[in-house]
Amino acid sequence: MKLLNTVKRRVLLLCHKQIQARFFNSAADFDTIDNSQCEQESGHTPVMPAEIIKAFNPQDNQIFVDMTFGAGGHSRQLLKAASIKLYCLDRDPYAYEKAIKLADEYGKKVIPLLGKFSEMQSLLTKNGVKPNTVDGILIDAGCSSMQMDSSERGFSLSKNGPLDMRMDGKRFSDQPTAADVLNTLDVPSLVKIFKVYGEEKRALKIAQALFDARYMLRTINTTHELADLVQNTLGSEQRFDKLKRTSHVATKVFQALRIFVNDELNELNYGMEMAHTFLKPGGKIAVLTFHSLEDRIVKRHILGIDMDEPVSQSVRQKFKNASKYHSKQEISDIYSKKWNPLYKNVITPSAKEVDLNPRSRSAKLRVAEKNVEKSV
Ligand SMILES: C[S@@+](CC[C@H](N)C(=O)[O-])C[C@H]1O[C@@H](n2cnc3c(N)ncnc32)[C@H](O)[C@@H]1O
Repeated sequence: MKLLNTVKRRVLLLCHKQIQARFFNSAADFDTIDNSQCEQESGHTPVMPAEIIKAFNPQDNQIFVDMTFGAGGHSRQLLKAASIKLYCLDRDPYAYEKAIKLADEYGKKVIPLLGKFSEMQSLLTKNGVKPNTVDGILIDAGCSSMQMDSSERGFSLSKNGPLDMRMDGKRFSDQPTAADVLNTLDVPSLVKIFKVYGEEKRALKIAQALFDARYMLRTINTTHELADLVQNTLGSEQRFDKLKRTSHVATKVFQALRIFVNDELNELNYGMEMAHTFLKPGGKIAVLTFHSLEDRIVKRHILGIDMDEPVSQSVRQKFKNASKYHSKQEISDIYSKKWNPLYKNVITPSAKEVDLNPRSRSAKLRVAEKNVEKSV
């Protein structure tokens, strides 16, 4: 019952707003690190490491936080670039073990932290990090190759395993697994998850099939059971990824479940707030995202667009409603810019990197500096 309530509460919190995001192509030229050389050093090929190191330009004695340590690919590049102090956060206990191993190599320069973005404030505070003191923060959103490649974690539709998908592993006993979600929720709730988090156009048909399966006393407990059920439901429909390769019809359903189980979008939103709190004025954030839902959140933070606004509005548009009285605080909020984007355009990987690491194909990198806040 407690589990059911947890899952249902999450559905109620689902964000309904779909916001148009526009993307640009990168014209930037990056030459300091050959991205192909970063491969396999750590079991997960880091995406755009050269671009990230160039943007941060780390200096000796600076403080950095890698908020998504994973296999430590980006962390290693940062540690090689200068003699820095690096806090390595990850919600995944396996990634945390890897961070402990890195700390064995680097001693007190590396501080492993086990937790989610929403636990970061207390973790950093416990470790003596004060707000406004960090020089650089990296977020590499989504899940790692280690998570995808491990069949028993249940992230990948190509590897058969239990439908788990919890990045936190077994850290929270009341956290629902993907199987709990599928076997517990009603059709409208499943539709909402598949539509909002997977942008799945056949959400209703799939949700109904999952619901009907329960009447046949069939519960969906493995990745292959779910993949097969979606395939049988959608028949011969063909789908393609960004590289025009055939993709499985259940890909979006898997993405939606993973985002929901891990509350990824709320976490990212919170992570951006936390990064702003801990960075010093002039400190930099670099964020890698892999789908438009994540990029919209990051873009809105960096460009200072209210998450409740239907579309991006200029300052003039914000004041257009003549009948509205704007309090001093509202005027200050409208004019205050929390971030200063470092590049005009979003940065995307080179064709060579996509060739070597197809996982990077949908990556978008945004970099910004924390602004010194001015009162109006
Ligand atoms: C794409 S991987 C990072 C890979 C890493 N940059 C590397 O080069 O090895 C993303 C990692 O972020 C972690 N993660 C995702 N969301 C998180 C959150 N809200 N809090 C903490 N860690 C998170 C995942 O567990 C995963 O290990």
